[in-house]
Amino acid sequence: MTNLVAHWDHRAENYDETPGNSLTPEQAEAWKSMLAEVFPTRPGRLLDIGCGTGTYALLCAELGFDVHGVDTSERMIARAREKALGRRGPDGGPAVTLSMLDAQDIDGRYDAVFSRNVLWTVTDPGRLAGVVATHTTESAVWVAVETMWDGRPNGDFRKAGKALPGFGGWHPNVLRDVFARHGFARTTWSSISNRPELATADKDLHVLFRVSR
Ligand SMILES: C[S@@+](CC[C@H](N)C(=O)[O-])C[C@H]1O[C@@H](n2cnc3c(N)ncnc32)[C@H](O)[C@@H]1O
Repeated sequence: MTNLVAHWDHRAENYDETPGNSLTPEQAEAWKSMLAEVFPTRPGRLLDIGCGTGTYALLCAELGFDVHGVDTSERMIARAREKALGRRGPDGGPAVTLSMLDAQDIDGRYDAVFSRNVLWTVTDPGRLAGVVATHTTESAVWVAVETMWDGRPNGDFRKAGKALPGFGGWHPNVLRDVFARHGFARTTWSSISNRPELATADKDLHVLFRVSR
């Protein structure tokens, strides 16, 4: 197990206490209406990369997507499974499919992709962009939500964080160029900071990218 996987495993138990993972019903509704605007194709198959404890995978399922959430952390996936228990999709089946899986190893083709706070956690976001390019339909939209902050790896991130060139967040123009190199010619991004209704009213910068070919 790498330091990073161990780090996220360790964080899983209390992860729902982090900002954005304990949404009030009103905040969940605000996220859903924003996502409904940026994702034109529904229903369809949606991949949630690095789904963590499944907060956003479940929101996307409520929008009508057939969601596959993947995460390399066994404990994050276990927490997501607990949260998904008792939630049903439109056909009465499970609301989401969850796999302990590295996004590099996915199969099949998706109509939409969601990721939140994953690109800063990987050593090479281009590798992930390449995976998304290979496993999406031509008209797929990828919504990537990322945070930028002023900080150094500390606490239990001291070891794992040092290996991350994107620690503190990638500049939006850097990510736009990464997406473009993998065939996603159209990237728009906007700040969703300081919006209490989205649980983003802290000192960090929160950015939503809408990425397509
Ligand atoms: C900062 S957490 C974000 C979790 C969730 N998306 C959220 O917004 O709450 C980053 C997550 O990405 C996962 N992750 C990192 N690299 C991954 C990869 N290559 N494939 C799948 N999951 C990955 C980590 O295990 C961790 O759960």
